[in-house]
Amino acid sequence: MTSPLAPDDVAALLRWYDAAGVDEAIGETPLDRYAATAVAPSAGASPPRGAVPAAPQAPAAATSRTGTAFREAPLAAPPRVPLESPQLVEDARAAAAAASSLIELEAAIRAFEGCSLKRLAKNTVFADGAADAPVMVVGEAPGEDEDRLGKPFVGVSGRLMDRMFAAIGLTRERDLYITNILNWRPPGNRTPNLSDVAICVAFARRHIELKRPKLLVLAGGVPAKSLLDTETGITRLRGRWFDYALADGTRLPAMPIFHPAYLLRSPGSKRQTWVDLLNIRERLDQILAH
Ligand code: URA
Repeated sequence: MTSPLAPDDVAALLRWYDAAGVDEAIGETPLDRYAATAVAPSAGASPPRGAVPAAPQAPAAATSRTGTAFREAPLAAPPRVPLESPQLVEDARAAAAAASSLIELEAAIRAFEGCSLKRLAKNTVFADGAADAPVMVVGEAPGEDEDRLGKPFVGVSGRLMDRMFAAIGLTRERDLYITNILNWRPPGNRTPNLSDVAICVAFARRHIELKRPKLLVLAGGVPAKSLLDTETGITRLRGRWFDYALADGTRLPAMPIFHPAYLLRSPGSKRQTWVDLLNIRERLDQILAH
């Protein structure tokens, strides 16, 4: 059979499937999706059982969190899925609560089997930076580079984040401790769903508790909404100070900022982020002066 696709296109398509977590054949007979599209049912009709929706983007564009594909496409809001299993959330909370140090927490997360993202991820991504840093940055989820290297924010958006903080005199080696809400990469960098977040945020909250930074920076809508427990979007949350309460009543100043991947796509918003960063620097200086 001759393929209608050039070999490079086939390779790109396979890479796209792999990035999306489609890495297993589920049928004996190949299905020509191009032919299937030609006779696709009209809008509103149910797709045939087992059908995979057409790829929304050109295959080669869909591999990077910070690249163009998934985040630039006008994606629908994440489905409001019911929690797959509230018990898994309870399990995560119990495992997190049992950890009494960052080392124990990392081990607990690595041993946790209750988050389905882990099955498709190459690595568990825990944290990077200085364990005694005054500023803790919480991002969303590992992307492709982070999954490969097992460290948060090491790809394109991580490099922008390093430059953003360097502009206010803060470095990853000395002043920043960096983690994400999710410890595993969502397949194809899809938006985390409610179950992913509900399970992983239990670990993230314990992470903050054990790290006890002086100040929290929430990079993007997912950490801002999940840790501040709000439905308000990042555009309205960014640049404002919130109190993040620890179990013993200690209140940490927390500021949501735009995610660096968003800034790469919308450089016009860097102005607002620069104001936020100056604000963070000022607050940190006040804290450190006491
Ligand atoms: N984006 C995130 O939110 N976290 C990472 O670690 C990398 C990209």
